[in-house]
Amino acid sequence: MQEKKIYFAAGCFWGAEHFFRKLPGVTATLVGFANGSTPSPSYREVYTDTTGYAETVEVTYDPSRISLTQLTEAFFVIIDPLSLNRQGEDEGTRYRTGIYWVDSEDIALIEAVYAREEMEQDNTLCVEKEPLRNFYPAEEEHQDYLIKHADGYCHVNLKALRYADLLKELSSLVEGVNDEVAVMANTAALLHETMKFFWTGFYIVADDTRLTLGPFQGPVACYSIGFGKGVCGTSWKRAASVVVEDVEQFPGHIACSSASRSEIVVPLFGPEGLVRAVLDIDSDRLATFDDTDRRMLEIAMAIVAGEIYF
Ligand code: SME
Repeated sequence: MQEKKIYFAAGCFWGAEHFFRKLPGVTATLVGFANGSTPSPSYREVYTDTTGYAETVEVTYDPSRISLTQLTEAFFVIIDPLSLNRQGEDEGTRYRTGIYWVDSEDIALIEAVYAREEMEQDNTLCVEKEPLRNFYPAEEEHQDYLIKHADGYCHVNLKALRYADLLKELSSLVEGVNDEVAVMANTAALLHETMKFFWTGFYIVADDTRLTLGPFQGPVACYSIGFGKGVCGTSWKRAASVVVEDVEQFPGHIACSSASRSEIVVPLFGPEGLVRAVLDIDSDRLATFDDTDRRMLEIAMAIVAGEIYF
C-alpha cells in the first residue's frame, strides 16, 4: 500500500518526533516549520516567534499498518489540547498545536477524532486543523534530536514513550495472526512482562449476559462476570474504558485478588461496533492508571481487535 503523510504540531518538535517515530507503521519522520509566512525559515528566525510558523513533525506512515485515526489519537496523548501556544516548558505561537493535512480525503477522519476529543474535554480545543500551506524541514541538527542527545529536553512524558515502543512490538507480534486466543495470550504476556502489572488479561463476551475468562497473566481469576457487573461488566455496558483509582471506592468491584488496588478496563470492538471482549489490568498499588494508560491501551486494543475481528 502507498505511504501517506500527515503533519502534527505538538509543541517542541524534538520530543514530538521522538514519540511519533516509535509508533508502528510510521516509516519516516522529519521535523520542520509549517504554515508560516516567510520563505525557507531558519530555526533562529522561527524562534523569534514572528514568522507565523509552528514547529511540526512530518509523519510518513503505512496506512495498512497504522490508521490516521490511531495516529491522531496518539497525537492527543502527547498534547494539552486546551493550552493555547504553550506545551510543556515552551511558550509562543511556534509551539501551538495543530493537525495539517495534504490529502482532503483525510479531513473526515481527523474531524471525527477531533470531535470525540472535544466532547471528552467538554471544551473548545486550541488545536488548529487546517490544510498544510507550507512546510520547510528544520536544520539537520534538529532531526532525530533526542537520538543524538539522549538527555535533551523532551516534553513528552516517559510513560507515553514506553507505550509507543510497546505498540510497535505489539503490532509486529500480532500482525497476520487471526486467532483470538493466541493473540490475546501473547498480548497479555507482552503487556504484563513489559509494564510489570499485577494481573493482565482478557474477558470475552460469551453471550448477552456474561463475560468469560480469557487468556491472562497473573494470579488465578474469576471465571465469569455479568453484564454491568464489576469494572469489566461496567466497561462492557458503557462500551467505554473504565479507570479505577481505588477499587474499594468502585461500587460492585469484583475482587479476584485482595491484593488488587487499582484497575483499568478497555473494551475491544468488532467491526459492527459491539464490544467483543475487554482487556482488564490490575495493579497492587493505588491510582496506577491515568489518561496516558487509557489512551495508549485504547490504541493497542484497536490494533488487537483489528487483527482478530476484522
Ligand atoms: N476486578 C474485575 C474482575 C476481574 S479481576 O480483576 C481479574 C472487575 O471488577 O470486573
